[in-house]
Amino acid sequence: MYAIFITGANRGIGLEFVKQYAHDQHHVFASYHPACPFDELQKLAAQHKNISLIPLDVTNEDQIACVAQQLEHKPIDILINNAGIFGRDQDLATISACQMVQVFTVNAVGPLLMAKHFINHVATSTLKTIASVSSRMGSISYVLEHKGLTRAYAYRTSKTALNMIMANIALDTYDKGIKILLFHPGHVATALGQQVQGVMIDATTSVAGMRKLILEAPRSLEKFFYTYSGERMPW
Ligand SMILES: NC(=O)c1ccc[n+]([C@@H]2O[C@H](COP(=O)([O-])OP(=O)(O)OC[C@H]3O[C@@H](n4cnc5c(N)ncnc54)[C@H](OP(=O)(O)O)[C@@H]3O)[C@@H](O)[C@H]2O)c1
Repeated sequence: MYAIFITGANRGIGLEFVKQYAHDQHHVFASYHPACPFDELQKLAAQHKNISLIPLDVTNEDQIACVAQQLEHKPIDILINNAGIFGRDQDLATISACQMVQVFTVNAVGPLLMAKHFINHVATSTLKTIASVSSRMGSISYVLEHKGLTRAYAYRTSKTALNMIMANIALDTYDKGIKILLFHPGHVATALGQQVQGVMIDATTSVAGMRKLILEAPRSLEKFFYTYSGERMPW
């Protein structure tokens, strides 16, 4: 049985991670943005004693530090940085500094702060894994090759930054034996996924694929950005 900490666990891909890990009897720390409804997560926690609910805004460093302190000496096998926002008004004519900063803060700074405060919890665990849900929209080569993709200045750059942050964390923590992974989860039918046009897959398939890779992908300093189905993503 592993201990897994998931951010943004009240809906979408995060909630599906909770369902699958809890079903397999792992101990799940399911964190959710305190200001938002979490009825479905609450119902799930009522059915599974192995789910602990944790209110946590990933942009609030004091909250993150406080939760990390409460869980001091508790090894976390897999930290899943899942919380994210798409943002709005993101073409060249409408993008604003405010929108750039807001999306960057949730999607890139949040995972950095989580890693900063939970690194010892992860380092003292068995699996020692930090997996972050990125996107192919953060891959510069992919975006240049697929010119028809939705323009989204804030979202795309926030995911590129997330990838670079995790590359730095991989270098900084390699000696501690920590495995860093980044995923494009597919185009998934969630509230966020519906903001981009195109064919969607379900969260069950996406999460099952990422879970398999979390266990099977080798620890590497070069190859750690994958699609949910295991293809390597270009940077
Ligand atoms: N769906 C896709 O096609 C797709 C594709 C590529 C990458 N992704 C990535 O997958 C991840 C999950 O997205 P999703 O599709 O499941 O979207 P979603 O259904 O919109 O869920 C996003 C989750 O993030 C949470 N969140 C947002 N801001 C937060 C904050 N400051 N602190 C804590 N939690 C916060 C949301 O909580 P609230 O309910 O409180 O808002 C929600 O639980 C994101 O990182 C996204 O960028 C998704």
